Amino acid sequence: MVFNEKNITFLLTVLFLFLLVVFLWIPIFSFSGSLPGHLIGILGTFIMGYTLLYPFRKRVFGKKGRQNPLKFHIYAGLSGPSLVIVHSGHTYASWTGSLAFLSMVAIVLSGLVGRYLFRKVNRSIKDQKRAINEMRKELALRKSQIDRQACASIIGLDGLTETAVDAETNYDAIEASRCDELLVLAHSIVDTEYTLQGYVKTKALFGKWLRLHIYLTVFLFAMILVHVMSTIYYGLRWLP
Ligand code: HEM
Repeated sequence: MVFNEKNITFLLTVLFLFLLVVFLWIPIFSFSGSLPGHLIGILGTFIMGYTLLYPFRKRVFGKKGRQNPLKFHIYAGLSGPSLVIVHSGHTYASWTGSLAFLSMVAIVLSGLVGRYLFRKVNRSIKDQKRAINEMRKELALRKSQIDRQACASIIGLDGLTETAVDAETNYDAIEASRCDELLVLAHSIVDTEYTLQGYVKTKALFGKWLRLHIYLTVFLFAMILVHVMSTIYYGLRWLP
């Protein structure tokens, strides 16, 4: 197996979902408050904190693309929460912890949806645009090769259907088939542009999705802060 971005993301996603299901099924009481439980929780939180480096570099330094690869955001966004799931041990003892946990799961799931849905949409937009450009070039080329006047009569663009039928019989078969092909090509361009519009509208949802992902992030870190402070306030039970 090659360890490329796609495979690493896939494995980390499987690990996250596996731990989520296992820990929801099998509660390990008293683990989250133990020393190993706390250490795993702290490590997971630091790794989650690393995810903020991506938006920071993007927004503050304007770094995009290769200068600021999203893949490390995703690796940290999957492995940090996996550790936090282990830390939680599936107990609802603390409501701040439970809220932090739920928002964390929501962020990861929203991240996964955003990543796969919008990557597909972006790719489709690129493909459709390329196809339209190629078809337009082809259309321009074919247009330059036909007799426009004759073609307009053949395909009935002059609005006289009867004349069009007559015209088709008057012009030679090659000219008529060229005109038909031109018409088919023009229809394909319209169809593809219509499909492209659908993808562009879907892409517009990306802004809304990103806002949700960001709001959840703010909520998560606020909850983590309250959770940590209340844990310290009520005392660390592993301290002698
Ligand atoms: C604890 C986990 C995570 C946190 C706290 C987090 C936080 C954020 C934040 C704050 C942004 C906003 C970037 C901006 O300023 O535009 C962002 C963007 C994004 N995140 Fe996450 N994220 C997490 C996990 C994930 C995961 C697991 C994935 C995917 C599998 C993911 C995918 C994305 C994507 C695709 C973007 C948009 C990138 C862009 O267009 O610039 N995130 N994340």
